[in-house]
Amino acid sequence: MKDSQAILVVGGAGYIGSHTVRQLVSNGKKVVVLDNLVYGHPEALVDDEVVFIEGDLGHRDLLDKLFTEHDIGAVMHFAAYAYVGESVTAPSKYYGNNLAAPLVLLDAMRAHGVNIFIFSSTCATYGNPQYVPIDEKHPQNPINPYGASKLMLERVLADYSHAYGLKYAALRYFNASGCSLDGKIGEDHNPETHLIPLVLEAAAGTRKHITIFGTDYPTPDGTCIRDYIHVNDLARAHILAIDKLAAGTDSFQCNLGTGIGHSVKALISAAERVTGTTIPVVIGERRAGDPPELVAAPAKAKELLGWEAEYKDLDMILTTAWAWTNGSRKGHFDS
Ligand SMILES: NC(=O)c1ccc[n+]([C@@H]2O[C@H](COP(=O)([O-])OP(=O)(O)OC[C@H]3O[C@@H](n4cnc5c(N)ncnc54)[C@H](O)[C@@H]3O)[C@@H](O)[C@H]2O)c1
Repeated sequence: MKDSQAILVVGGAGYIGSHTVRQLVSNGKKVVVLDNLVYGHPEALVDDEVVFIEGDLGHRDLLDKLFTEHDIGAVMHFAAYAYVGESVTAPSKYYGNNLAAPLVLLDAMRAHGVNIFIFSSTCATYGNPQYVPIDEKHPQNPINPYGASKLMLERVLADYSHAYGLKYAALRYFNASGCSLDGKIGEDHNPETHLIPLVLEAAAGTRKHITIFGTDYPTPDGTCIRDYIHVNDLARAHILAIDKLAAGTDSFQCNLGTGIGHSVKALISAAERVTGTTIPVVIGERRAGDPPELVAAPAKAKELLGWEAEYKDLDMILTTAWAWTNGSRKGHFDS
């Protein structure tokens, strides 16, 4: 990839994509964003130099035009449906958007000689952990169509790499969290299912309470444990991955997490500390398919990319998310 070439960020108007776009721009990279806005927010693209194209990644004509009109050197692929429960009741939607549509994108890349691909994979490809922390050698046995659709695309990438020389990185994120440090952009899913924004909405009073689903897990305080990785750390790993692949490193898969687990109760206590509020809590039943503990073994990312999470402190992560929940989000994004 040449320095003069742009990076195509598919799903760049979404949560993780928009933070990565900002980091790319501040690193001096040219950026073209493709997003159909099914869940994205065009106002999250705050840098004027970003070229935004509204459209669907499964539309081959649009992709041919895009790759002809813009000199693209690499693709970051964030676009997907990511509601686990919905994937169980509507698998067609998930295999369509998370597997069939990216095939169209990959074939268009091949036709236009674009060879570097960074894929947002997930710890959901591992399924119920057989051990924690989870390293990349852990068996991948997803327990829902969302995780299966991501694992299938990982397999497609391995085959395309073998047959067509595609260079790819499959980055398996744990729980993305936090927001930009200036509070200008942040996490805004609709519907929201992620714990941190829900807890902070309860702190802000825009949600009546937060429900803890299960307090009888085999963990020290009985609630589920997750690994919260800051969105800026995720963004940085993507940029390092492109640089590595462009420099000739072989395709790879790796976890992106802090290696530190926090229970739901610990997270709520931290949110009370950061926000100075008392957060109303309701105890609910366990949800099907929630493993007790998901924590990354992040050593491979360090070894391959020289990457390690900078935001390891949960209070710091929550402080950035609170700046957004209680600041820009109120004015800009509530709809
Ligand atoms: N948020 C997390 O904790 C997490 C964890 C693991 C993996 N991931 C993966 O990371 C990626 C980004 O997650 P996010 O939280 O930023 O999601 P998001 O919904 O905020 O962003 C996804 C973006 O993709 C766009 N999009 C969806 N389908 C499209 C299509 N067919 N064509 C064009 N654009 C399309 C949406 O409009 C949205 O802007 C997803 O692939 C998700 O599966 C997220």
